[in-house]
Amino acid sequence: MTAAATVWERGRFDARVGPSEVLFGRMYEDASIELDAFHPGSRIFCIASAGCTAMKLAPDHEVVAVDINPIQLAYANRRFEGDAGFRGKAERVMDFARFFGPLAGWWPSQVRAFLELDDPVEQIECWQRELNTWRFRTAVDGLFSVTALRSVYAPRFLDFLPKRLGAVMRGRMERCFERHPNSKNPYARSLLLGELSSDPPPPEAKNIRLVHADAASFLENEPPGSFDGFTLSNILDGVEDAYRQRLFAAVKRAAAPEAVTVLRSFGDAGASSPENRAADDRAMLWGSVLVRPVRAF
Ligand SMILES: C[S@@+](CC[C@H](N)C(=O)[O-])C[C@H]1O[C@@H](n2cnc3c(N)ncnc32)[C@H](O)[C@@H]1O
Repeated sequence: MTAAATVWERGRFDARVGPSEVLFGRMYEDASIELDAFHPGSRIFCIASAGCTAMKLAPDHEVVAVDINPIQLAYANRRFEGDAGFRGKAERVMDFARFFGPLAGWWPSQVRAFLELDDPVEQIECWQRELNTWRFRTAVDGLFSVTALRSVYAPRFLDFLPKRLGAVMRGRMERCFERHPNSKNPYARSLLLGELSSDPPPPEAKNIRLVHADAASFLENEPPGSFDGFTLSNILDGVEDAYRQRLFAAVKRAAAPEAVTVLRSFGDAGASSPENRAADDRAMLWGSVLVRPVRAF
């Protein structure tokens, strides 16, 4: 690995020495953004993670899915073959947080009723009346405090995050509930109830090319102009500027003239840009989901 490397290389959230882990049992990225951004029939580079985005794209695109974590890559491969998968580290952290739901006044029956609503106006009324209690706000602000996050995540995963993250995350949740019908939002069910989506893989999942590599290293070695789209997850969160520059240079080189990129971040950078589609992403967690032509880099 060259000097411009990435924190994700370790395949762990924490700073301890230990083996790589399955970090994500599912992805929390709304692939309808990618389906909207990329032309059918085009060739797409994506980050494999749990494989959800690759599987959504596979029926209408040629997909190359890359991941730096071999354990995560093997997990995605098993899902492409029809395995239901399991809860990764991210889901287990969320399960821990959800365990305290009743203390914040959240009962499963109440949350289920909220998730069955399909009128955003009614959703926001119900949210403010029943779920957005002061105990919930206090609990979320505590869970997203720097002290609590440091017990799970290495410092590099935290440095770029907005201040008062609890309030920011609550704001992102409200942004979603006032816009997207809950009843058609699988991401709301997974966030609030911990349910893992159970969609079977499409038959085209067998055509996805899986590659164990760092994204920048892989793209540096692909033929110039060979990809029409890039969906980069939030792999630039927590990395040094040198890696960011290196990845953008590799994307530019590997991009066809009209290629488009999708880049997510938990941070606020680029949030006010007209290219930010975070509000359209039903996974609701993102500060920015930048959909940009590569030529604008
Ligand atoms: C960036 S993480 C974030 C997870 C994502 N937001 C989701 O909802 O699944 C997703 C995956 O990216 C992989 N990854 C991170 N940096 C990478 C890089 N530079 N090259 C290839 N894969 C990378 C990680 O190993 C992980 O499996």
